[in-house]
Amino acid sequence: MYVITGATGALGRLAVESLLERVPAEQVRATGRRVGTLDDLAARGVDVRRADYTDPASLAEAFAGATRVLFVSGSDAGARLEQHRAVVDALSAVGTLELVAYTSILYAQTSDLVLAAEHAGTERFLAEAGLPAVLLRNGWYVENFLGALPVTIEHGMVGASGDGRFDAATRADFAAAAVAALTGGATAGDVFELGAPGFTRAELAAGIGQAAGRPVTYTDLSVEDYTAALVGAGLPEGFAAVLADSDRGAAAGLLAAPGDDLARLLGRPAQPWTQVVEQAVRAALVTP
Ligand SMILES: NC(=O)c1ccc[n+]([C@@H]2O[C@H](COP(=O)([O-])OP(=O)(O)OC[C@H]3O[C@@H](n4cnc5c(N)ncnc54)[C@H](OP(=O)(O)O)[C@@H]3O)[C@@H](O)[C@H]2O)c1
Repeated sequence: MYVITGATGALGRLAVESLLERVPAEQVRATGRRVGTLDDLAARGVDVRRADYTDPASLAEAFAGATRVLFVSGSDAGARLEQHRAVVDALSAVGTLELVAYTSILYAQTSDLVLAAEHAGTERFLAEAGLPAVLLRNGWYVENFLGALPVTIEHGMVGASGDGRFDAATRADFAAAAVAALTGGATAGDVFELGAPGFTRAELAAGIGQAAGRPVTYTDLSVEDYTAALVGAGLPEGFAAVLADSDRGAAAGLLAAPGDDLARLLGRPAQPWTQVVEQAVRAALVTP
């Protein structure tokens, strides 16, 4: 039985859809907290179970009989070490487990990004438990940059990443790669640094401008000024600081992934970011 956690979220849902292209629905279990959002999958024959990383009993039920598990990192930043510890404990009790693939972050063990600490800790838990683990160290989603396109097109982009590259890929490609790893493309102990040929923020702004048919500027700020700009745009201070810290890391190369791990797992090149940007700009310009 394949089990996907976080199937109620964007990446996990895409992974379930990708998995269903490869194996029958009876072999797929989709889990998450808001399982009401998975009714359509249940109707297609997928086994839907609640799995809350803060509720060990739910994890035991979710993982019962599991052979291959996609462990999607949780979204409660700051609370994830304890939560992921519970997931690893629950997986350790599964006698049928053959492989667990964990969605980590680029260079988790050496990255000094604020966001990397919980991923590094989770990777250590998996190793200490002796689980047959594959580490999917995901780079940034291209979609992270496309949430406020009308504002970006109108006012330009700000950031603090300098000439740092984001070798970002789509969630769909990260999900397909995860499924490839789970269904035979990887073996226990494999570590993948996943990304696609990407962009600096200046290149991204230029690409958005090209798609929109008007120049879009990029203004590089200090980390402090970028944090303040994000707070000014309405983000909570803690979240703004984490985003600005990620730009700091990008400037230092922590979000670049020059290898070809993603394309090799996919068996094809990842979708080019320019294409994703073109589609998103077109959609943003027709949606008032
Ligand atoms: N690489 C990147 O650029 C990037 C960006 C953002 C996040 N991430 C990481 O990648 C993960 C997947 O990304 P995404 O876009 O799919 O995020 P998402 O749409 O926010 O989905 C997060 C998923 O994690 C589940 N989850 C969170 N806390 C949980 C808990 N305590 N117990 C059980 N499930 C829990 C959520 O379940 P419910 O919805 O049912 O509560 C949801 O299914 C995120 O959770 C985060 O760790 C990566």
